[in-house]
Amino acid sequence: MNSTTEPAEVPATLLHLHQTRSAFDSVAADYDGERGNNAAIQDMRAEAWRWLDASFAPGSHLLDLGCGTGLDAVRLARLGHLVTAADWSAAMVRRTFDRARDQGLGERVRAVNIGAHELQRLGETGVYDGAYSNLGALNCLPDLNGLARECARLLKPGGLLVFTVIGRICPWEVIYYLRQRRWARVKVRYARGPVPVSLNQRTVWTRYYGPREFYRPFADWFTLEHMRGMCIFVPPPYLASIRTRHPQWYRLLWRIDRRVAGWPLLRGLGDHFLIVMRAR
Ligand SMILES: C[S@@+](CC[C@H](N)C(=O)[O-])C[C@H]1O[C@@H](n2cnc3c(N)ncnc32)[C@H](O)[C@@H]1O
Repeated sequence: MNSTTEPAEVPATLLHLHQTRSAFDSVAADYDGERGNNAAIQDMRAEAWRWLDASFAPGSHLLDLGCGTGLDAVRLARLGHLVTAADWSAAMVRRTFDRARDQGLGERVRAVNIGAHELQRLGETGVYDGAYSNLGALNCLPDLNGLARECARLLKPGGLLVFTVIGRICPWEVIYYLRQRRWARVKVRYARGPVPVSLNQRTVWTRYYGPREFYRPFADWFTLEHMRGMCIFVPPPYLASIRTRHPQWYRLLWRIDRRVAGWPLLRGLGDHFLIVMRAR
C-alpha cells in the first residue's frame, strides 16, 4: 500500500474516548439501577450531595461534568440552581434531558452532549459559580491539563470545583484481592496510564489518581480547599453485597468514614476521594 491508500491511524486517546462513550451509551437505559446507582453508590451520592450543598450558594449557575442520567443535575435544579449538565455519552445526555423535562425542570437544566475533554465548545467565559463531577467521570479523560485550563476560563473568580474521583489506594480492594491472590487486580489502580475496565462487555478507559496528583494540573488557577477519602472503611460499591449482608456494620463504618475521612494520612485513601478547589 502506498501512503495515499493507507488508512489513517486513529490516535489511541481518540480510540479510548470513543470506546468509553460506546460503553456508557450501552448502559444509559438502566444506569439508575444496580449497575450505576446501587445502594452503596446511593450512600456515596448522599455524601457528595452534602458537600455540594455546603459549597454552592442558593441560585448558583453550575456545570455538571459527566452528568450521567442527571440525578445530581435535576436535584440541584430542584433546589433552585441553574445547571448545564454535560456528558460525552449522547444516551446519558438524553436521559438527563428527559428526567429534567419530566420533572418540570427543563428550564433549569441545559443538557449538552459535550465531553469534559472538549469544554472549549462551551463558549461562555467566567459565567459559572461552580462546577462539579460525581463518581469518577473525570477518571475517563485522557488528561487533566485541558480540563483545568477550561475550568479556570469558565468559572468566576472564587468559584468552586467539587469533584469525586476514583482514587489509587482502596484498602478494601487491596485486602479483598490479596486474599484471592489476584496480584494483577491488586495493582490495577497503580498504573501510570489508562487502564481498560470492562463495562457491559465494552471498555471504559480509566485513569486513577491520588488527590495530590489530581490537584497538580489545577494548581496554577485553583487553591486546594479540601480533600477527603470516600469509602475508606466501607467496601467499594461493587462489593455492595457485603452491605446487604451486614447492614449494621456497614452503617457504623460509614459513620466512621464520614467522621475521619478528612484526616491527614486517611484523606489519600478510599475507593474515591472528594476534592474541593477554589478559583483564584
Ligand atoms: C460513573 S458515571 C457517573 C455519572 C454521574 N456523574 C453520576 O453520578 O451518576 C461516568 C459518566 O461519565 C461520562 N463520561 C465518560 N467520559 C467522559 C468524558 N470524556 N467527558 C464527559 N463525560 C464522560 C459517562 O458517559 C458517564 O455518564
